Amino acid sequence: MLISLIAAMTPDHVMGFNGQLPWHVPEDLKHFKNLTTGHTVLMGRKTFDSIRKPLPNRTNLILSRKMPAHIPPGTHWFTDLKEAIAMAEKSGETELFVVGGAEIYALAMPLADRMYVSIIKLDSPVMGDTWFPQWQPNQWRIVQRRESGAVTFLTYDRLNSDILPLHHILPAHERGV
Ligand SMILES: NC(=O)c1ccc[n+]([C@@H]2O[C@H](COP(=O)([O-])OP(=O)(O)OC[C@H]3O[C@@H](n4cnc5c(N)ncnc54)[C@H](OP(=O)(O)O)[C@@H]3O)[C@@H](O)[C@H]2O)c1
Repeated sequence: MLISLIAAMTPDHVMGFNGQLPWHVPEDLKHFKNLTTGHTVLMGRKTFDSIRKPLPNRTNLILSRKMPAHIPPGTHWFTDLKEAIAMAEKSGETELFVVGGAEIYALAMPLADRMYVSIIKLDSPVMGDTWFPQWQPNQWRIVQRRESGAVTFLTYDRLNSDILPLHHILPAHERGV
């Protein structure tokens, strides 16, 4: 099973403000939906609180340090990242998407094989209180790049991972690199 982070951020890595996304960019929401539908998504409790309901047509795993008194319908809660990953693996999932927020990206990044990063270019600066964590550039390489309107879609694969890299699947002109 592939473990993938999927995140949207400004060029300086702002990804949240006041518990919300600081922008509304439909093409990025569409990209997120296309990639994650039919798969398992894993998110932190604060991100779940911000979306308030499970993402439809996906298995929703939520990470919290304490189990809620009432489990919201359509969600599975875990206090341990590895237990959540084990559940996805056992279910036969092929790609687990870690969908944020910053705390959960930082926790899962050492285990991730792939990162889907959307760089959002806005006309004016936005306020941010949550930033995507730093990653080691020498551990990742860009295998796909696509520009669409205000968004640059980048796919990073971890170097030395056993996954079949996208550059083996896609011809260079489709990767745009
Ligand atoms: N731009 C994007 O792509 C994107 C994506 C997702 C979210 N966001 C934004 O990011 C912000 C939220 O991010 P965040 O970093 O504040 O919160 P978060 O990562 O969504 O959730 C943090 C919570 O996860 C739980 N947690 C953290 N570490 C844990 C561990 N080791 N074991 C078990 N549970 C653990 C804790 O829940 P408890 O407090 O319940 O214990 C913690 O409070 C929002 O603004 C949201 O809109 C942006």
